[in-house]
Amino acid sequence: MELNGTSAIVSGGASGLGEATARVLAQAGATVVIADLNAERGKEIADAIGGRFAQTDVADESSVRAAVQAAAGGPPLRVAVSCAGIGWAARTVGRDGTPHDLASFQKVIAVNLTGTFNLMRLAAAAIAETGPADSDGQRGVIINTSSVAGIEGQTGQVAYSASKGGIIGMTVPAARDLSVTGIRVNTICPGIIDTPIYTGIAGAGGDAEEFKARLTAPVVFPKRMGRPAEFGHLVRTLVENDYMNAEVIRFDGGIRFQPK
Ligand SMILES: NC(=O)c1ccc[n+]([C@@H]2O[C@H](COP(=O)([O-])OP(=O)(O)OC[C@H]3O[C@@H](n4cnc5c(N)ncnc54)[C@H](O)[C@@H]3O)[C@@H](O)[C@H]2O)c1
Repeated sequence: MELNGTSAIVSGGASGLGEATARVLAQAGATVVIADLNAERGKEIADAIGGRFAQTDVADESSVRAAVQAAAGGPPLRVAVSCAGIGWAARTVGRDGTPHDLASFQKVIAVNLTGTFNLMRLAAAAIAETGPADSDGQRGVIINTSSVAGIEGQTGQVAYSASKGGIIGMTVPAARDLSVTGIRVNTICPGIIDTPIYTGIAGAGGDAEEFKARLTAPVVFPKRMGRPAEFGHLVRTLVENDYMNAEVIRFDGGIRFQPK
């Protein structure tokens, strides 16, 4: 699908994979709305790419509704990419016998899984109101971000993996639901990509660089972390290739997560 002259909305667009996606889509000629909690960084990036910022909590219905309305107010809305997400590390039962905190589990599900569904459903409804973009009757593309942890979660990733596995599970039924409106749905499962998310996971006093080096060790090739721009490139490819639909794509340099 042609990106030039369209609108796109990117959740989590103020950092990491979402920022790279927003930049790639803008380069391809789309007017991008960055939907993120982080207003300072979000506005900065929106200004840099000639887009707009909408302060958004993806887990909140009215907040996402307003962001989608903003995105639908310009050129036809054709693309919604969910990159907003949070990490969390805790075992089902901790070494000291304490069960996983339920509120933390619910929070990760609310942001990562419910938040992704929230944007997908509201953006799809807005995209469905546009006219067809081509002779196939195509109207738009939804891209969701899962993780290889949604397939082979490591110890301590039970909440995160549940949220990311749920995104994988939505891919085929959502693509089937939305086929009548000419909307494709694909899910990307990144491996280890070099973004600020690891600063948070390493935690207060944690060494993010050491944490990253340990995570990268099992990468097959190229032997490094992925680059956010490489993720943005894949998003663009998935949007532009009209036959990619209902697919879950690993984007991981061949890594297969070990238990720890
Ligand atoms: N970086 C990786 O290696 C990697 C691997 C697999 C999956 N992922 C997934 O990719 C996505 C992007 O990750 P990243 O590495 O770019 O992280 P990041 O921390 O750099 O960016 C995440 C962005 O999401 C925003 N955000 C968080 N909660 C939000 C909410 N409730 N509403 C709106 N915005 C919110 C943050 O403000 C931030 O700008 C996440 O879903 C993450 O789980 C990342």
